[in-house]
Amino acid sequence: MTPELELRGITKEFPGVRACDGIDLTVKAGEIHCIVGENGAGKTTLMSILYGLLQPDAGHIVIGGRHTSIHSPLEAIDLGIGMVHQAFKLFPTLTVAENVVFRQEPSRRGVIDRRGASRRVRELADAYGLSVDPDAVVEELPVGVLQRVEILKALYRQASVLILDEPTAVLTPQERDRFFEVIRRLRDSGRTILFITHKLAEVMAVADSITVLRQGRSVAELDPAETTPEEISRHMTGRDVSPVRRGRTHTPGKVVLSVETLEVEGFHGLTAVDGVSLEVRAGEVVGIAAVAGNGQSELVEAIAGLRPVVAGTIHIGDQKVTHADVARRRRAGLSYIPEDRHRVGTVAAASISKNLMMGYQRSAQLRRGRWLSLAAVERHARQLCEHYSIKTHSVDAAAASLSGGNLQRIVVAREMSHDSPLLIAEQPTRGVDIGAIQFIHTQILDARDHGRGVLLISAELNEIQALSSRILVMFEGRIVAELDPDTVDEADIGLHMTGGAKVGA
Ligand SMILES: Nc1ncnc2c1ncn2[C@@H]1O[C@H](COP(=O)(O)OP(=O)(O)OP(=O)(O)O)[C@@H](O)[C@H]1O
Ligand SMILES: [Mg+2]
Repeated sequence: MTPELELRGITKEFPGVRACDGIDLTVKAGEIHCIVGENGAGKTTLMSILYGLLQPDAGHIVIGGRHTSIHSPLEAIDLGIGMVHQAFKLFPTLTVAENVVFRQEPSRRGVIDRRGASRRVRELADAYGLSVDPDAVVEELPVGVLQRVEILKALYRQASVLILDEPTAVLTPQERDRFFEVIRRLRDSGRTILFITHKLAEVMAVADSITVLRQGRSVAELDPAETTPEEISRHMTGRDVSPVRRGRTHTPGKVVLSVETLEVEGFHGLTAVDGVSLEVRAGEVVGIAAVAGNGQSELVEAIAGLRPVVAGTIHIGDQKVTHADVARRRRAGLSYIPEDRHRVGTVAAASISKNLMMGYQRSAQLRRGRWLSLAAVERHARQLCEHYSIKTHSVDAAAASLSGGNLQRIVVAREMSHDSPLLIAEQPTRGVDIGAIQFIHTQILDARDHGRGVLLISAELNEIQALSSRILVMFEGRIVAELDPDTVDEADIGLHMTGGAKVGA
């Protein structure tokens, strides 16, 4: 039986910020308890304390009526608590099964029983509808599957309380529905789920109860049956937040990106992008809608210079950059908000001001004469932190100290702050709170109005629809439809995305 869980008066300070400020939280056994709050509200910190990764400065944890201290994740696991982090922690070159059983490998006569491990992982996966191949190598799997591996890891360690920190941020709408089935099934088997998300529709769909955090305090405990997304967001932000709309249409200007019959390889040399041609003009937002794994990531990586081109051409402005390095593409006019803020977008150990400068060392606004001006870099960083509400006590702090959403703002701020003609925005609002979504959307539309051309890739169909001047749908490496956001609805787009409608149909 899963015991009730209580956090009492949890306080945690970091240099210059009180991340948790006397938080009380009661979680009933066998419920899905959603924790919501703006970026930097203290959600991850609170959960890290429960998982033994951080020690609170004050307050305590009560499990099943007993005061408990949790000094490490190993102790948390012993108490039946499992956590799936915002950033996954898996060994890329090992198989799914090897990752799941790591350090708790089944053995036969003192030897690790690989077949047994694989079989047990498969049984566990089947029991909860988490479809994965135990023998697949982790680095070759899409994020949606990696997450199932993380959940399996916790279940294998007999977690009765499962902490999921923004699990849906990286999922496609289809994967998300399956994920909900999984967590409902886990709840129905008696487990307690702590679920952090920024998406209030998800909260309304799965929560049994809701806690709202704001600036390190618990400001509301809500019953989903008696609240609305508007009320939740008012508790989160203290104001009303309304979605941004695309507004008037513009006459597009000159071509800022031109891709012709592009071919790009993905994993195992398979063709990921299969003869794609597209244009982005100044003053328009071209949205690409696609189910994950249909070549959109490879397309963007090829345009950004992170993946080689097999055939076809890429022009940024009037410069041919098909095989050029990243620096030349930037000089030709490219700014790029990558999907993966940890691996590609930022350097964790470097300071916030360095992260805000990276890739733009040659920019005139950061130089004095021939040299990079540290004063200018710092001033630039301060301005961006202010403008983008990046919560930090110092621009010299390491990027690693930022909350997930604040790190995303760093990437967005850096790439939006240079007036390059072409902006590629890949999942630009992943992990940011609703206030920041509204802000970033406004920035993208402003960029468009100032004559920049934007290529937007997003798994959020409402984001694609709200911002795009026109929508291209990718399916199996090709562009299968061009849609007018004014006349299609999400269901139409979804149909094209799954190959359900032919071109022009
Ligand atoms: N290791 C750390 N060192 C310094 N400050 C930290 C550290 N971890 C978190 N913080 C700060 O504590 C505050 C709360 O961060 P936390 O990661 O808990 O926020 P969050 O609610 O999870 O936000 P998000 O929605 O962006 O993930 C933030 O201001 C953050 O910068
Ligand atoms: Mg967080």
